[in-house]
Amino acid sequence: MCGLIGGADDLVHFSCTMDTTEFRRRGKEMVDLIADYLENIEQRTVYPDVEPGYLRSLIPEEAPEDPDTYEDVVKDIERVIMPGVTHWHSPYFYAYFPTANSFPAMLADMLSGAIGCIGFSWAASPACTELETVMMDWLGKMLKLPEDFIAGTHGQGGGVIQGTASEATLVALLAARCRAVRMILASDPQRPETGITSKLVAYSSDQAHCSVERAGMIAGVRMKKIPTDQSDKYAVQGETLRRMIQEDKAAGLIPFYFCATLGTTPSCAFDHITELGPICNAEKIWMHIDAAYAGSSFICPEFRPLLNGIEFADSFNFNAHKWLLVNFDCSTMWVKKRSDLIGAFKMDPLYLKHDHQESGMITDYRHWQIPLGRRFRSLKMWFVFRMYGLKGLQDYIRKHVELAKEFESLVRADQRFEISADVVLGLVCFRLKGSNEVNETLLKRINNGRKIHLVPCLLSGQFVLRFALCARTTESRHIREAWRLITQLAEEVMQELPH
Ligand SMILES: Cc1ncc(COP(=O)(O)O)c(C=O)c1O
Repeated sequence: MCGLIGGADDLVHFSCTMDTTEFRRRGKEMVDLIADYLENIEQRTVYPDVEPGYLRSLIPEEAPEDPDTYEDVVKDIERVIMPGVTHWHSPYFYAYFPTANSFPAMLADMLSGAIGCIGFSWAASPACTELETVMMDWLGKMLKLPEDFIAGTHGQGGGVIQGTASEATLVALLAARCRAVRMILASDPQRPETGITSKLVAYSSDQAHCSVERAGMIAGVRMKKIPTDQSDKYAVQGETLRRMIQEDKAAGLIPFYFCATLGTTPSCAFDHITELGPICNAEKIWMHIDAAYAGSSFICPEFRPLLNGIEFADSFNFNAHKWLLVNFDCSTMWVKKRSDLIGAFKMDPLYLKHDHQESGMITDYRHWQIPLGRRFRSLKMWFVFRMYGLKGLQDYIRKHVELAKEFESLVRADQRFEISADVVLGLVCFRLKGSNEVNETLLKRINNGRKIHLVPCLLSGQFVLRFALCARTTESRHIREAWRLITQLAEEVMQELPH
């Protein structure tokens, strides 16, 4: 509530003072607004019809001098914001990979916002740190991670919540760089450090997410892409990595980091970590596993074999905020040896010191990440894990996989289309048999229609449409409706273009 003070002649505006009484009322209204939005989301056009810069003309050039009312702000949500929203939680959204959305996580985020602590050290808010360590252990146990990755009370390893998979990849790369330099200096103390870093070489698949290549750019190290092909289902083969390492060593380079992907972004391919891991271990190369999307599925026993070989990894990460019903941001990362991370990033200015930090009993998560500040993100894991239970989470993953299989059957039953990669989880890569031009035109028509939303990928030079199961509320009827639209547009395109 915003108000005025003073008598009739000397009215003085003062700033917004939404008090607790007002907050209770508005908070309940906001919950209703959110529930209405999500309940009716499928009636909205999934992809917005706006031009770049659309928003600037809808709001003033400057922030208001005097306070607006809450009603004014709420009114502008439909006028200003919603026209430019891509509705990621519409059951007609099939682009990218999912981003999680559940009621327990949203409520936990409200509480996190209210507590509003910045948990960079144990002392900065003990519950923030301790719940995170235990939640990472809970999740690690759901995934049946090797004991080495579980913190427990005396473990050498453990988990941390990063903001994104990109950060996890970078943090692992920086820790690996530090470990490699220290190992070389230990045996050759006279060698100049710059002479070592300029020779370092890291590897990832040519199917890896671009954030991996970017991590190499940020860290200032060579990043080589390992070629994959269709005959190997776009997975990195042990033999290819071994050959590249030998060639690079012969050329005087120092291999130090390999980022394997489980569930690549284009086609959800899985690198052969049971072959790759022993090679990395023998060469003292840090193996990081990026399973940003697929990682959530490993809580199901039938998908857990995809993670076999994890025992060879130094670090492992996936986005619980993608497919595990924990809203963004919650990128869960485990390391076997926490000292590898802490040793790489430790800074201890006086103003951050506290009584317990040398006790060996506590974790100061600021040493595990790039920023200092961190939100109380484990609350949303706690709410979600308790309110869904492992069984509820497994059922959710299985439902998406079943829907993907249903969509795959629809595609396979139509002779005009082909499936472009194995459907293992909730992603179906498909295309019209024919030219890239036909497929590009089809995708453009689909997205211009704005009823469903998909994005493409390139596999072996072919333009492919990706159909990713995303929303929590997607049902069989949505899949069938999407397929009806796709085939109707395909018919139009095929009549117009040679294929
Ligand atoms: C395999 C993979 N790695 C990394 C990323 C990047 O994720 P983030 O936005 O969390 O950095 C993605 C995004 O979809 C991905 O699919």
